[in-house]
Amino acid sequence: MAEHINKVCVIGAGTMGAGIAAQIANAGVPVLLLDIVKDGEANRNAIAEGAVAKMLKADPAPFMTKSAAKLVETGNIDDHLDRIAECDWIVEAIVERLDIKQKLYARIAEVKKAGTAVSSNTSTIPLENLVDGMDEQFRRDFLITHFFNPPRYMRLVEVVRGKATDAATADKVSDFLDRKMGKTVVAAKDTPGFIANRIGTYWLALAVNAAMDQGITVEEADAIGGRPMGVPKTGIFGLLDLIGIDLMPLLSQSLSSTLPQGDPYFDTVRDMPLIEKMIADGFTGRKGKGGFYTLKKATGGGREKYAIDLESGEYRAARPASVPKHAQKDLTALVSLDGKIGRYAWELLGNVLSYSAMLVGEAADNVVAIDDAMKLGYNWKHGPFELIDRLGPGYLAKRLREEGRDVPEILDVAGDRPFYRIEDGKRQYLTAEGEYRDIVRPEGVLLLEDIKLASKPLAKNGSAAIWDIGDGVLALEFTAKMNALDEQVMKMIGKAIGMVRDGRKALVIYNEGSNFSAGANLGLAMFAVNIAAWSEIDKLIRAGQDAYKALKYAPFPVVSAPAGLALGGGCEILMHSDAVQAHAETYTGLVECGVGLVPGWGGNGEYLSRLMNSPKMPRGPMPALSKAFETISTAQVAKSAAQAKEMAFLRPDDGITMNRDRLLADAKAKALSLVDGYTPPEKPVYRLPGDTGRAAVDLAVSDFHKKGVATDYDTVVAKRLAHVLTGGDTDMQDEVSEDQLLKLEREAFMECVRDPRTQARVEHMLETGKPLRN
Ligand code: NAI
Repeated sequence: MAEHINKVCVIGAGTMGAGIAAQIANAGVPVLLLDIVKDGEANRNAIAEGAVAKMLKADPAPFMTKSAAKLVETGNIDDHLDRIAECDWIVEAIVERLDIKQKLYARIAEVKKAGTAVSSNTSTIPLENLVDGMDEQFRRDFLITHFFNPPRYMRLVEVVRGKATDAATADKVSDFLDRKMGKTVVAAKDTPGFIANRIGTYWLALAVNAAMDQGITVEEADAIGGRPMGVPKTGIFGLLDLIGIDLMPLLSQSLSSTLPQGDPYFDTVRDMPLIEKMIADGFTGRKGKGGFYTLKKATGGGREKYAIDLESGEYRAARPASVPKHAQKDLTALVSLDGKIGRYAWELLGNVLSYSAMLVGEAADNVVAIDDAMKLGYNWKHGPFELIDRLGPGYLAKRLREEGRDVPEILDVAGDRPFYRIEDGKRQYLTAEGEYRDIVRPEGVLLLEDIKLASKPLAKNGSAAIWDIGDGVLALEFTAKMNALDEQVMKMIGKAIGMVRDGRKALVIYNEGSNFSAGANLGLAMFAVNIAAWSEIDKLIRAGQDAYKALKYAPFPVVSAPAGLALGGGCEILMHSDAVQAHAETYTGLVECGVGLVPGWGGNGEYLSRLMNSPKMPRGPMPALSKAFETISTAQVAKSAAQAKEMAFLRPDDGITMNRDRLLADAKAKALSLVDGYTPPEKPVYRLPGDTGRAAVDLAVSDFHKKGVATDYDTVVAKRLAHVLTGGDTDMQDEVSEDQLLKLEREAFMECVRDPRTQARVEHMLETGKPLRN
């Protein structure tokens, strides 16, 4: 269905419109981005052009590659509105004013083809108000697609269909949002704030009020309302600093003006002198002079964290706060604590959860939609109903009743039953009618999470597991912390190869952690270093090289399917696969030099081969070698799968999946497509320049050192790397085999690991998560 949307017009090139246009371009679909003509500006497209230019410099980047920006064509609504006739979907993302939006719709209706979808990104205006006065055809073509900021990174899009919205049109847009733009579509009803902002705004207002009323500090509020509730560690005040404190009164006004009388939200609305003053003085959060938190220069150098005293409004040194250990993971224990922690936690949870429960049937059809909206729109780890299950639906209802408060109907429907349960290997949710129903995944969505409910692993150890994902395909999953790679993983690779060889067809390497793999387990390596167990380290390097080589030459297709970080050894595993099916948000690179190491699991040869075979590379080994050297020695990481292709970590024909939930199914299909007539790759032979090439590379390194870009030890590591990449003692007449290159790599790695300067780097990284520039 997605094929039907071949070009999109986005009107409004502000924060949201520009970001939405960028994500459409990231999907490879051309976009026309229009805004108004700015008064007194000679360039009539200045606003839209300026938006694209700004995005090309923004961090985090809205575009997945610089070249994606070429798919965005800019214009203005006075000269180019008739060009919407070329487009299959029009997204309106202009100012949040009903009159201005309606005026624009009237103009759009004059020029658009019947059947072309039009959607608004409004965050608060009901759909029926938006289309008030529009003709039947326009109403049929119209829906709301509510994105979250920033549109590239936030997965949620709430879709609201009106009474007259044509189902096929809404399906077509939803399908495009899902497959092409990688979003999770949550169906929301046409009610104020839809789902996520309604609950989110209520939650934030409640949390701020309660902190002020109960004498809770901002640090305490964030410690209680953050991690223990599965909320990002920014908590509440940290989140407000991030999104901008000036947004609070805006959200409050818009919800207050549209919510029905008697909505519990109104109980949170009150004068906020402190917040008004902060906004007036420019203390709007991270984008302003500071927020509830700020960093100030410390006397002894560095920066110190300060927090606002909610009573006096003055900054004071931040005071760490925490929640008793037993209550950190146990919500019932948390809300039962005596004293201010328990009181604050209950004030927050009791209200937010009962508000969410009240919205079943009103803002969303079911609990799953509400949970998905909060997880994907506010980055909550658990949705409200998952939180209720952790607390116990019966407990929540009982405590509300004891306090003489209304108990939402759905809680009575649930009684003591959970909102989610596993039945016959399937996850089910409780409907508003009190029946359990299977959570049905859209076609083309395959999740290990679901497979795990219905089956047991074929094999597993402390760091990896093997799953049968059907049709003769096995999946190898990493399971250690950060999905770090160690000897156990290498063993499981060997096991998986044996299992596929015994009558199955293909192997997919995949997991559902936030990161595919952060690379080798450095902690383990440091442990070996500290007891000078050099032979153990050498053994690990050999085991990795052997395991990866076995994957590469296995007599069946191996497809890796990364998402998130795939660094160091994680990147090397991609490069030893027959093909990669990567989630669009994959960040991969050979980062070993950053900790004073060189790639040790075949990454050097694989990366060289890829660059040498890249159609963009000039012929001969030197250009590819210089590029490999530059990329590896400076530990460059691709910031998207598309960029990983440009950098040649991925091959031109490797696949990219935009929607995270579709990754495994796509990878499996790719693996199966390679089965017929599969032959393993031939062993490469390299012709490398040896000494002569090294001289050129060394020169470049000393130049960087002189400029102060490379530290003393960087140059040492770079020289060791250069020794590997140039093939050691060879010249262009000689052939260097893959095994010889692996040996060079191993030697260079061992030399690094024995060097105290590398050890200092690794230790620093393990302790602080940051590189040491020694
Ligand atoms: P913005 O203020 O950053 O950008 C609005 C843009 O619309 C401006 O570039 C303006 O020149 C342009 N514009 C105004 N009238 C126009 C017209 N008649 N024709 C064409 N362009 C026109 O606003 P933002 O934040 O991007 O919001 C846009 C829409 O998205 C609003 O409806 C807002 O409620 C909604 N929204 C905003 C979110 C956010 O976090 N900022 C999140 C989700 C939805």
